[in-house]
Amino acid sequence: MGRIKPQTAIFSTGYDPQRSEGAAVPPVFRTSTFIFKTAAEGKRAFEIAYGLDPIKTGESPALIYTRVNNPNCEILEEKITAWDGAEAAALFSSGMGAISSTCLAFLKPGDTLVFADPVYGGTEYLFRHLLPSFKIRTVAFPAGSTQAEMERLLVDDPTVKVIYIESPANPTNIISDVPAARALADKYSTPAKKILVMVDNTFMGPIFSKPLQHGADILLYSATKFFGGHSDVVAGIAMGSKALMGQVKVMRTILGSNSDPDSAWLVHRSLGTLQLRMEKQQESTLRIVDFLRGQPKVTSVAYPGSPSMGDRQVELWRKQCTGTGSVISFCIKGGEAEAFRVLDAIRHIKMAVSLGGIESLIEHPSTMTHSDMTAAEKQHTGITENLIRLSVGLEDVEDLIEDLRQALATI
Ligand SMILES: Cc1ncc(COP(=O)(O)O)c(C=O)c1O
Repeated sequence: MGRIKPQTAIFSTGYDPQRSEGAAVPPVFRTSTFIFKTAAEGKRAFEIAYGLDPIKTGESPALIYTRVNNPNCEILEEKITAWDGAEAAALFSSGMGAISSTCLAFLKPGDTLVFADPVYGGTEYLFRHLLPSFKIRTVAFPAGSTQAEMERLLVDDPTVKVIYIESPANPTNIISDVPAARALADKYSTPAKKILVMVDNTFMGPIFSKPLQHGADILLYSATKFFGGHSDVVAGIAMGSKALMGQVKVMRTILGSNSDPDSAWLVHRSLGTLQLRMEKQQESTLRIVDFLRGQPKVTSVAYPGSPSMGDRQVELWRKQCTGTGSVISFCIKGGEAEAFRVLDAIRHIKMAVSLGGIESLIEHPSTMTHSDMTAAEKQHTGITENLIRLSVGLEDVEDLIEDLRQALATI
């Protein structure tokens, strides 16, 4: 028998029913602490958890304490690597928990992180305000930059430690060049300092984009989005090699940015339908993109892989993605007032931040998710006052189109 596909692996790996009274699905292990059989078992578990002595092949250390590890979190961590083909994963309390803890695991005062701009507003805040307050320099470059454009940031700066990419970028849907980032990381790494490529794969992954195959070292996800998929849980994921995730998990333990058994259980519940949901949501989104393109009140539609994004974007999409996803950004005629009129007129789509859930959500990035950016930063990155972000869910697509049609008619 050949290697099983991810859609099968998520059902058949990571959980042994015999360890839970034969329960077909994992029970919720709602406990804060775990009982050691012997003191030596406890000692060994701590050596591994604190990175003092790495885990040996085939070793199964005792569980310690839910801030460090918990069966629901570990079961999920094993299953969610199936699509991306990562060696290991770390589950967090939120996408921001994953991003901030992973950055802090590898950056120290004096280091520089360069990032493709824009990124999600919370990440932007971390990069523009919090990391600099710990003397970690952050430098933005435009999402979708060429290798030569990115290289200008690295060539004279030996302090660069991380190249951070969110692809497609929230909210502009710009795809960044992961293989180019890899090539530069390799070129400018030294034996003493390995430059890491981190990719936030929330918008397309893990079904339509697999950046580990294109050279990323670490993937980051807001699992609140497609992984959770039902707008009822907040969680985050980091993925990569066992060695890197070992370092990330130590930071998670110390910062306390771990997930909890109930949240892990909810994300686990959602895994079986992840692929199905993402494919169906994409199918409806393609119809809505077509509709929006024909609307006189819509001045532009940003959607991955579409010719209106420009030849270079289409080429990057072809190389790095196998689908187009279900997040659309579009500009309407007018400014903030007209955008608000559309949002206030929407009846079935819910006006809320977040994305990737089974219900469609619509929001205004400039005043909501990305409101912390300065006017100049928003202008550089194309987060204009007339930009609306739509995440397409599983409602009947005809109803969604009619809802958008009547809302656009108000301007
Ligand atoms: C691309 C992206 N990354 C990270 C995050 C942060 O995730 P969370 O809200 O789960 O902390 C978000 C949230 O919207 C996002 O869109």
